[in-house]
Amino acid sequence: MCGIIGILYRDKSVAKDLVTGLKLLEYRGYDSAGIATLSNGSILIEKDKGRIDELNVKLGFESMPGCVGIAHTRWATHGAPDKINAHPHTDCENRIAVVHNGIIDNYNEIKSELVRKGHIFKSLTDTEVVPHLIEEYIKNGYSFRDAVIEAVSRLEGAYALGIISTYEPGMIVGVKQLSPLVVGVSDEGMFIASDINSLSPFTKDVIVLDDGEVVFLTGDSYEIVRLPTRERVVKKVERIEIDTQFADKEGYVHYMLKEIFEQPVVLNYSIRVQEHYLNLMAELLDRSKEVFIIGAGTSYHAALLGSIILSRVARLTTIPVIASEFVSRYGDVVSVDSSVLAISQSGETIDVLKAIEFAKSRAATILGITNTLASTLTRVCRVYIHQHSLPEIGVAATKTFTGQLAVLYRLAMVTGKKRGKLSQREMDEMKVEIAKIPGVVKTVLDRVDQQVRALAKKYKDTRYFVFLGRGLSYPIALEGRLKMLEITYIPSLAYPAGESKHGPISLIEKGVPVVFVAPPDETRKLIIGNIEEMRARNATIITLGDEGDNELRELSDDFIPMPRVYPLFSPIPYVVPLQLFAYYTAVLLGRDPDKPRNLAKSVTVL
Ligand code: AGP
Repeated sequence: MCGIIGILYRDKSVAKDLVTGLKLLEYRGYDSAGIATLSNGSILIEKDKGRIDELNVKLGFESMPGCVGIAHTRWATHGAPDKINAHPHTDCENRIAVVHNGIIDNYNEIKSELVRKGHIFKSLTDTEVVPHLIEEYIKNGYSFRDAVIEAVSRLEGAYALGIISTYEPGMIVGVKQLSPLVVGVSDEGMFIASDINSLSPFTKDVIVLDDGEVVFLTGDSYEIVRLPTRERVVKKVERIEIDTQFADKEGYVHYMLKEIFEQPVVLNYSIRVQEHYLNLMAELLDRSKEVFIIGAGTSYHAALLGSIILSRVARLTTIPVIASEFVSRYGDVVSVDSSVLAISQSGETIDVLKAIEFAKSRAATILGITNTLASTLTRVCRVYIHQHSLPEIGVAATKTFTGQLAVLYRLAMVTGKKRGKLSQREMDEMKVEIAKIPGVVKTVLDRVDQQVRALAKKYKDTRYFVFLGRGLSYPIALEGRLKMLEITYIPSLAYPAGESKHGPISLIEKGVPVVFVAPPDETRKLIIGNIEEMRARNATIITLGDEGDNELRELSDDFIPMPRVYPLFSPIPYVVPLQLFAYYTAVLLGRDPDKPRNLAKSVTVL
């Protein structure tokens, strides 16, 4: 989403080091940037749309005076990427400056309250409520420190904050809630940043903050308070040896692996997309005579899953279509009564844009789910949802796929409620269960990483793979196949498991690895039958199944034990081992998983 950094030196200007740190955070977002420093009792701010190097020349970032400062590089989520929405943001009197990474769920409600109290807002961002809320508490007699505590206690959502103020000119405040934030300490001063790598040029001594913690940094000390109890906590300083050459990969060899492991964090953002936009989209879907869900590649797999999910949860019939096939298949029926939900992480895939251009010419309603604000897709949609997966650099889609699914689940829940197909109890249960998914994905990553690495070693020389699944797991089989073939170049097939006897089974012979996606849902019994069919032809069986499913384990040559998960949401954790399988196989084969041959991250040519 964004990168934030704050530096407080005892007797040295911070501007140059803020720029150095920002550059190391640029992989997190780069559509605008800004710096605020404290000098002679005032807050100085320089910010604009554009890349850091360009703004450094244009705005003179490095020459800003002051020994205390905060900086921000933005991946826009609320409000277009322009000067007014760039961070830092301030209060009415320009005495408090804030940088933010994450999403404040309840910003609308807080903003309305503050506007009624006379606060003047300049931007469209959720972030801007923070300095004004702190200002409001100060106006009501709170000290700056207590005003921060009170204000932050009201925020809901995922956020990491950096705050400076003329009320406490020798202080920087850091706040951590779901979005990452670390503290750095050195002989020269104190630091906060979104990741350890961005501090590596200045210090190796860091404190990793936990959710709900607020840190008050001064020239030679720090104090950490934990909300909601407000108890002071003591945390140990760790010495972290970081090789900055992997800075933007956060120590991972490839972006793809970093992005696979980033899923537990960014899924917290995707499951928190603004209810307001989900409601708008649900309203339009509900009114449509027919709904097409289109995408390309991995995004088509999300579209396919989205169609199943909307059918199950909202009883809404939708038609999933590969974007490049849309016009030839449905060009004659799409009309003003149609809605087209386009899924595209880049928002620039030409097949998608051509399909919606045609649909728009037929007066259809265009909706979108994307990871790139200000992309072409967002400009042609009536309503779009930003999935907040952070920039994805690896060509193979991983975290943006699970982010798309998270948004589709939320959309199906809101649509189901609106259509009266979901009771409040069912809705509440699903909200509880979907909130667990980032943690389930974390468990999967912790548990299967080594096993999958060994599987890659065992199967890397196979001639081809077959991936099979049923129901919700069929699109996951398709996605596991696509990951494998696009980065290892090993021919791979994927079919609905029930389809195998209608042809594909002719490919099965001794030793052919068949990967079954087999969560404990309504398809399990039939999957068992499919496994038996393959075993009878001496295939090698690799199965992803529930950790307690001993029958499946017995039937498999390799069994990947998956943690218990709410069946409807199984696609998100069950795709993760397949992402890792493809990645480790590619690396063992000497491929570059970040830049597979013949592929581009965004296909903008027909
Ligand atoms: C998936 O790993 C590939 N990178 C590719 O299939 C991709 O999903 C497809 O090109 C669609 O991209 P989009 O989501 O940006 O539209």
